[in-house]
Amino acid sequence: MLRVGLAKGRLCEAAIESFKKLDLNEVIDLKSRKLVFKDMENNIEYILLKPSDVVTYVENGVCDLGVVGSDVIMERQETVYELADLDFGKCKFSIATMKDAEDIMSLDKVRVATKYPNVAKKYFEDMNKEIEIIPLNGSVELAPLVGLADCIVDIVETGNTLKANNLVVVEDMHEVSARLICNSISYRFHQPTLIKWVEQLKEA
Ligand code: PRP
Repeated sequence: MLRVGLAKGRLCEAAIESFKKLDLNEVIDLKSRKLVFKDMENNIEYILLKPSDVVTYVENGVCDLGVVGSDVIMERQETVYELADLDFGKCKFSIATMKDAEDIMSLDKVRVATKYPNVAKKYFEDMNKEIEIIPLNGSVELAPLVGLADCIVDIVETGNTLKANNLVVVEDMHEVSARLICNSISYRFHQPTLIKWVEQLKEA
């Protein structure tokens, strides 16, 4: 049996759609609270995971495959075996501040609120800019509004959340998209199937 870890949240529906293109059965019901779904006919089991845990499950060989955003992979700072850029879940890592804020580059030390401390640290380090990371777990757009941070580093898709909270992008940092990742031993074991799948996904 091949086990596939899917990131819950914004990528999940598109990930399920992409597996449909491989002529597999539709077994995942996102309305249920179940976390494990089996396609007995094709010998595939899907498990729903928190995005950052997809990498852990794949790296440990518990999952053979995973679908996760490149934002999560980048934050993990580990080498993962990427089989394909799935071309959905596209967004950008951006730095954003309040519309009328002072230029953050003129500050001696920039307070950066983020769910992605490693990505933020690396980016500002490369610019030789001293920062203080304010690690948050969500709703990071709030931090500049209440004076907790000078700016945020976050993923921006439509830009609606920034706009609704009076924030603007100062700089785009990296492109982000969904990736199909694989455990390296599983790849050797299931190579013919996986090569076929990647081809089918590219064609679709
Ligand atoms: C992500 C991200 C932004 C928002 C960007 O948050 O952290 O807040 O989506 O999307 P937009 O540009 O289309 O508005 P998510 O929805 O994952 O929720 P969270 O802040 O609770 O983590």
